[in-house]
Amino acid sequence: MRAHARWRRRRPLRTRLALAGSAAVALVAIGVCLAAFTIVRYELRHQLDLHLVQQATMLQQQERSHPPGVVYGECGYLAAPACTQIVPAATRLDPAEPYLLPVTAETRQVAAGQRPAYYTDIQISGHPARMYTARFGGTQAVQVALRSDAVDRGVRQAGELMAAVAGAGVLLAGVLGYVLARTGLAPVARLTATAERIAATRDAGLRIELPPGRHEDEVTRLARSFNTMLGELEQSVTAQRRLVADASHELRTPLTALRTNAELLARTDRLTPAQRDRAAAGLNRQLREVTSMVNDLIELARDEEPQLLLERVRPAALVEHCVAAARDHWPAVAFDLAVAPDTVGLTLPGVPARLVRLFSNVLDNAAKFSPAGGTVEVTLTGSPLQLTVRDHGPGIAPEDLPHVFDRFYRASAARALPGSGLGLAMARQIAQAHGAALTAESAPGGGALFRLRFAHGVTSEAAAP
Ligand SMILES: Nc1ncnc2c1ncn2[C@@H]1O[C@H](COP(=O)(O)OP(=O)(O)OP(=O)(O)O)[C@@H](O)[C@H]1O
Ligand SMILES: [Mg+2]
Repeated sequence: MRAHARWRRRRPLRTRLALAGSAAVALVAIGVCLAAFTIVRYELRHQLDLHLVQQATMLQQQERSHPPGVVYGECGYLAAPACTQIVPAATRLDPAEPYLLPVTAETRQVAAGQRPAYYTDIQISGHPARMYTARFGGTQAVQVALRSDAVDRGVRQAGELMAAVAGAGVLLAGVLGYVLARTGLAPVARLTATAERIAATRDAGLRIELPPGRHEDEVTRLARSFNTMLGELEQSVTAQRRLVADASHELRTPLTALRTNAELLARTDRLTPAQRDRAAAGLNRQLREVTSMVNDLIELARDEEPQLLLERVRPAALVEHCVAAARDHWPAVAFDLAVAPDTVGLTLPGVPARLVRLFSNVLDNAAKFSPAGGTVEVTLTGSPLQLTVRDHGPGIAPEDLPHVFDRFYRASAARALPGSGLGLAMARQIAQAHGAALTAESAPGGGALFRLRFAHGVTSEAAAP
């Protein structure tokens, strides 16, 4: 068993398939030849035996009785009729001339009717022959014999022929098995080679060549899904690279400013207290900015939530909590919250901390872009569950609309305000992880409108576990 396992590990699949296929075909070839040989041998022998019985029966029908002794003795030639002799049951009745065919105790028993007829293989003047002994008349036996070398030769020739055919079959099976395994497994070999190349070069841009035409078998399907997987891998690798490149690029500016301020502060002796305070405040602000940016990046980089953190959340309560926090944070902006009564009891599977981030990012933007004393209207409606946040700020220009969810994207009008352009990218990612769609549009009458639509998983509290 262990040796077999080791063998399986060491031999490539192609060799194993070739060997298994060849062995099966070879076994069938040998089996068929053996069966054919057995049938041919049986038929040839049976013909000879039938002939002997015929001769004996003919004599029995022609003559009721016959004196003991040789009836016909010339069967030394191949084409001659059968040698025939009559043997009595009692030895005292034996003729004076010697018998031609061997007479034994069994022959006497057949003559006496104590034994059924039988066949024997004998030699007649140096040639192989077959003899049939049967009862004749009351107390005699008839013995008929024929040279059997023609039959024996036929059997031998048939055997040789079948052996040759079986040998050729085995050879052919080997060749066929090898060729079939080779051509049949060629796509698998290509797949393996590509996978190995990818593992060695870490180049997810490689693809497996698919055979032309619409020929669909398991291997093609496997190759196709392998290619799809590679495409996704490539995309995710590219996205990661872009995120890292974007992040390092975006971090450079605040870090440079931070260093300048730090260097400035290092020369405290030459600064007036006012300058020192300004530099310290700047340093503080920049540190906060960088910290929040790094936090956002970490948030963005971890994509899917592990299922373990999921719990049933009540969106109405979460929105109320976020609006209350925003009111604290932006005292100059009025938040107008309208929660439809049918949404109060609804729950959905989600990660509360992440949903809070999503809501507060959108609320934060609305407040940030609102004019002083402006109003932000927040509504939560049911079936399907939908949250809208609308402000009365400058709104989003049509050319910016497709990009506001991109990482680090900030419309030129927004560059004067603090921010890194990560907020909405993160918000959309969280929305997608919760099976929701976050979209931006221009509100009729000015301002921006953000809409968050939950597609599935929303249940009323009574149904929730
Ligand atoms: N309510 C809004 N009104 C007008 N423009 C908006 C509004 N919300 C977002 N935008 C535009 O979309 C851009 C991207 O928003 P996002 O929240 O991603 O970044 P940010 O607010 O500039 O920075 P951060 O949220 O990372 O601090 C903003 O810079 C702004 O140009
Ligand atoms: Mg923002």
